[in-house]
Amino acid sequence: MSEPITDLVAAAIEAARNAYAPYSGFHVGAALLFDDGAVVQAANVENASYGLSLCAEANAVARAMTEGRRGGLVAVAIAGGKADAAGAIALGPEPVMPCGRCRQMLHELAALGDTDPEVIGAADGSLTRLPLSALLPHAFGPANLA
Ligand code: THU
Repeated sequence: MSEPITDLVAAAIEAARNAYAPYSGFHVGAALLFDDGAVVQAANVENASYGLSLCAEANAVARAMTEGRRGGLVAVAIAGGKADAAGAIALGPEPVMPCGRCRQMLHELAALGDTDPEVIGAADGSLTRLPLSALLPHAFGPANLA
């Protein structure tokens, strides 16, 4: 992997600075690493109609696919926590791992390139690292509709 994991986690933490999360106060950043070395960052975007809020990982997938990416996903880092007055996030003791909907969205992008990306959840002082296939076993995906 060309990009060290610590750099990818730093990119997720940086992305969280742009979260729009006035309702939950929980700022999340995601960073997707591709096989050409590119990193795509995004943050969560909430809405006054709470249920419409968008997760950081979903926004990152949408951003990457809008840039034309169709596969090549090798790793995903996620960081979340409360923001301080300067906008920096304080990681909690538990890692933020993707919600169910985001696992499915990540699977779509991964499946297009036949990769099983490593998912890295950042906590204060530790990282949880698991393949996406372990987080979403027996996933439904493009192959089912072929
Ligand atoms: N959130 C994410 O961005 N990613 C996740 O994987 C879990 C939750 C966001 C959604 C909402 O804006 C806030 O965190 C609190 O649930």
